[in-house]
Amino acid sequence: MKAIDLFCGVGGLSLGLKLSGIDVIAGMDNWGQALSVYQLNHFHDVLDIDLSDVDTTFNAVANYEIDLIAGGPPCQDFSHAGKRVEGKRANLTLAYAEIVAKILPKWFIMENVDRSQNSDAYSEARIVFCNANYGLTEIVLDASYCGVPQKRKRFFCIGKRNESDGFLLEIIKSKLSKSPMTIRQYLGNDLGLSHYYRHPRNYCRRAVFSIDEPSPTIRGVNRPIPKGYPGHANDEVPVDSVRPLTTLERARLQTFPENYAWNGNKTEMEQFIGNAVPVNLARFVGECVMIYEANEVIGINSNDINLEQRIKQYI
Ligand SMILES: C[S@@+](CC[C@H](N)C(=O)[O-])C[C@H]1O[C@@H](n2cnc3c(N)ncnc32)[C@H](O)[C@@H]1O
Repeated sequence: MKAIDLFCGVGGLSLGLKLSGIDVIAGMDNWGQALSVYQLNHFHDVLDIDLSDVDTTFNAVANYEIDLIAGGPPCQDFSHAGKRVEGKRANLTLAYAEIVAKILPKWFIMENVDRSQNSDAYSEARIVFCNANYGLTEIVLDASYCGVPQKRKRFFCIGKRNESDGFLLEIIKSKLSKSPMTIRQYLGNDLGLSHYYRHPRNYCRRAVFSIDEPSPTIRGVNRPIPKGYPGHANDEVPVDSVRPLTTLERARLQTFPENYAWNGNKTEMEQFIGNAVPVNLARFVGECVMIYEANEVIGINSNDINLEQRIKQYI
């Protein structure tokens, strides 16, 4: 299955899809610094293009024969961290939908923050998808149940042409893990610490976390411990015995592999990493798509206990 990744950033979504067996053949974005990281790790076409321009993007995408358009339009206008008023960036969700509806690939995967599901921009995009005859599977996934040691909730809208809504839910639900993944389960003792500092949004929340739980959401900024940190009743150990995670450690919690190549200053890198779809979350969604596709193409029964192995043979 061939795909392109719109708003590809540094390539978290692209890498996860690739690991699921989907052949990502191009990435597009307009942030030069992020694209330079993408190019260090992905050896296919990379286009620096303003994706708000639907006609130009249509012409660029139409050069490729693809089965799937993936993309996570930027989310600041919906995110908990950003301002709550929908703005220009929210319109990129609609631009994404319009591009999908003009190209009409068999599949699309759209990712965004969980609250985007209730936005006006998404309601408009949803109408565009439905009018183009896509059946939609809409779900908020907690990454810690999808192979990522991080409590990060993200909304996915997965579309396939001429399907019923909710068509992928059974496969997705059957693949979710029974319990959330902890940092220790994912990285063992690689970090060389048992607890760490993560700056809270406000001091009503704790700031000290254990590696025996999933990390809270990795955001696009990573603040040091402020001198005046007052402590919190739920901090398991004193704050003077912990440190914040480094930028590269945070990339590991986003499930980027250790050998992923990076460049940029610290502020940029924190943003690249916080913006990204966790690689294993993208892989999880990609595998669900591949299972559904294999089911359709070679008639595998999704209740088959050896399904994963048989899919691997298919891929
Ligand atoms: C949430 S990030 C995507 C992260 C990416 N999917 C990943 O997994 O690494 C959104 C991306 O949209 C890009 N973007 C924002 N406005 C854009 C525009 N008008 N044209 C193209 N890309 C844009 C940003 O540069 C950013 O890389």
